Amino acid sequence: MRREYVYRAFERFWHWTQAGMIILLGVTGFEIHGTFAFFGYEQAVRLHSTVAIAFLVLISFAIFWHLSSGEWRQYLPTSTHLRAYIDYYVTGIFRGAPHPTKRTVLSKLNPLQKLVYAGLKVLVIPVMVISGLLYMFYRYPQQYGVTALNIDGLSIIAGFHTLGAFALISFFVAHIYLTTTGHTATSNLKAMVTGYEELEGEDTAQSEEEEEAVKELMES
Ligand code: HEM
Repeated sequence: MRREYVYRAFERFWHWTQAGMIILLGVTGFEIHGTFAFFGYEQAVRLHSTVAIAFLVLISFAIFWHLSSGEWRQYLPTSTHLRAYIDYYVTGIFRGAPHPTKRTVLSKLNPLQKLVYAGLKVLVIPVMVISGLLYMFYRYPQQYGVTALNIDGLSIIAGFHTLGAFALISFFVAHIYLTTTGHTATSNLKAMVTGYEELEGEDTAQSEEEEEAVKELMES
């Protein structure tokens, strides 16, 4: 095993802030939805709107960081080893089988993670943001209709927003479980806190080019 710096400061800040915001948006959102009462309806609406704006600011910084650091490439879906990972998560994990591939600094995500995270970034989060903003800015001025988009009432928008919220909650539950399936039950969690992870195998870099790429990545 070797100790390597895999998650940089902004990445960890973004990850934990996003997690906190999504939990708060989920709790206040489902109170608005009528699932339970905790803050009180009005306070829940105020909190939901404030956290949503903060979430938008965070997303803007995160987009900038992903583009400027080149980290967006980590999320490009691939079918290589996809089948092996599906088999691993369906059966292998319960037999204590090893992960089909080793994690490296240049390839932090396995093919299933790439698919799921890319889906969140290009589908679920945009659906939440767009439906949330439509909800926020069109509900009150126009009363019952999103006239600019020729939509009668907010039920379609609320439907998309609530569906996205269920997708995020499902992801959240699976995500928490999967974080415990690393080298030890808490190794993935520790890595996202400290930035350092225990990785299997010898050195990450296989060639001079890769070594250069890792160096550049760490310096950016
Ligand atoms: C930038 C992102 C977001 C914006 C702008 C936004 C905005 C809004 C607004 C304006 C409402 C309606 C409040 C009212 O009725 O007065 C709402 C409701 C709601 N939001 Fe969000 N939201 C966002 C993200 C989220 C996230 C991430 C979640 C879940 C994790 C979530 C879950 C909900 C739920 C469940 C409702 C109630 C839907 C209903 O029953 O009609 N929202 N949101």
